[in-house]
Amino acid sequence: MSHRLHAFVCTQSRPEGHPRGCCTSRGGGQPLFDRLMQNMMSKNLWDQGISIAQSSCLGFCGYGPVMVIYPEGIWYQPTKAEDIDEIVDTHFVGGKVVERLRVSPVKK
Ligand code: FES
Repeated sequence: MSHRLHAFVCTQSRPEGHPRGCCTSRGGGQPLFDRLMQNMMSKNLWDQGISIAQSSCLGFCGYGPVMVIYPEGIWYQPTKAEDIDEIVDTHFVGGKVVERLRVSPVKK
């Protein structure tokens, strides 16, 4: 089965004081992925062609915490569990981008 939508959540962690920082130290990482997984299970989103995965650094640490949705290439900066819930309900299920959480990362 092909994926209608595939989301990658950065769960990269780096030591305190690392010059690049990481999504985990910025409030993201595993807790947000766990919330996403809870949504997937409670709403059985795999049956809707949605898949999720944890990712190591996605290359835009300064925008963290970040997640990216393919094939659209939409980037989000969720910082709390409620943000994940909104992305799931509005984007995954409803098909509309959550503009307030969207970022357009660029390499610096
Ligand atoms: S640590 Fe998350 S994008 Fe680099």
